[in-house]
Amino acid sequence: MDRIRIIGGVPLKGAIQISGAKNAALPLMAASLLTDRPLLLSNVPDLADIATMRHLLAQHGVESHMTAEAAGGHRLSLAVPDITGTLAPYDIVRKMRASILVLGPLLARAGRAEVSLPGGCAIGTRPVNLHIEAMREMGAEIEIEGGYIRARAEGGLRGATVRFGTVSVGATENLLMAATLARGTTVIENAAREPEVVDLTRCLVAMGASIGGIGTDRLVVEGRERLGGASHEVLPDRVETGTYAVAAAITGGDITLQGTSVELIGAVAETMREAGVLVEAEGNGIRVRRANGRLQGVDVMTQPYPGFPTDMQAQIMTLMTGAEGAAMITETIFENRFMHVPELARMGASITVHGASALVRGVPRLTGAPVMATDLRASVSLVLAGLAAEGETIVNRVYHLDRGYERLEAKLAACGAVVERLKG
Ligand code: EPZ
Repeated sequence: MDRIRIIGGVPLKGAIQISGAKNAALPLMAASLLTDRPLLLSNVPDLADIATMRHLLAQHGVESHMTAEAAGGHRLSLAVPDITGTLAPYDIVRKMRASILVLGPLLARAGRAEVSLPGGCAIGTRPVNLHIEAMREMGAEIEIEGGYIRARAEGGLRGATVRFGTVSVGATENLLMAATLARGTTVIENAAREPEVVDLTRCLVAMGASIGGIGTDRLVVEGRERLGGASHEVLPDRVETGTYAVAAAITGGDITLQGTSVELIGAVAETMREAGVLVEAEGNGIRVRRANGRLQGVDVMTQPYPGFPTDMQAQIMTLMTGAEGAAMITETIFENRFMHVPELARMGASITVHGASALVRGVPRLTGAPVMATDLRASVSLVLAGLAAEGETIVNRVYHLDRGYERLEAKLAACGAVVERLKG
């Protein structure tokens, strides 16, 4: 298994091109199932999760081709003239939970779907009850059998008013996609407002869907007989943006993040500014550098958008390990998303966890160590810690990083980081 070796302590300086958002690209790819016309996506990141989604979609008859674009992203064409299979097998779903996103589109277009239940996950129990209940409210008959969600809607789905008790990005996306081909009107209340959900709605509209309330927590979808093809550019990755912003701040560097915007990382930019980081719009991107002096501890609580994103919790905690004073980091979205804490402690961080909160007391310096993590964002937080730490850090289980960060070492090395991938 590959590892990443980092010699820390170098202030990172330079420019980093931000890739398209993984969490936008995955539902957009699933949306290709809704039409027999081609869907052309640009600014797609080349990541392990994108390959897994292509593999899954191929089971349903989707032909996909990916080519590099001059700008650095990728163009992905997806076409499925006929749905040739409705089974999303356990072997693929267990690798990537976002596989559940084929449930709504398959039911809407093919009238059936057999999707494996995803099972356990490193960051929490992550049930899919909201997805299932929403499809039932649209008239689908659903049984759970042999670890599979077996769903049928032979006469087609019908519009319904669905109010989510919990804000769920994936359930909102699944229901949205299903509703575009349902009979009648669907109202989604307490819908997720994440930029990736907005990106999906824009693409669906370009495909001919009728969606009102875009960007709000109440979406109204008028079902259509069929959708057409479209070309759509995937929005920039706000988590990658935030992660490299922390890399600039934690190393005392100065990085320009290109092809992204301050608006996309609103709550993260606000927290970083409070901590003493300059985060400024510059040209077609953001310039991030530390203001004078040591960083200040800032309390953070994760929330659905527009609140502070859970996908940036581990990274901001790492930043706070070197801040003056204390910072209370509270995780409200996932119940087990502090897996990075014991690893950061191995590097000299002072962190005490009480239930859903972690109290971080700043230390003057972290020291390098061999570390590993069990999910994507926890893993990248250890890379960030390694960049700031004295000496050598080896981050194990790099495959987590490959799921969500495109050319991570190359992007960091271009800014002066001493980082390499050790094969095997
Ligand atoms: C999306 O996951 C993202 N994944 C996650 O990114 C992100 O952490 C999460 O949203 C929250 O922002 C993708 O977009 C592919 P949810 P999702 O449904 O849709 C509970 C990363 O690192 N819930 O919004 O699966 C759930 O347990 C990842 O890139 C139910 O109870 O998240 C959680 O507490 C990891 N029942 C809360 O809702 C359900 O049926 C929010 O989860 C569904 C969710």
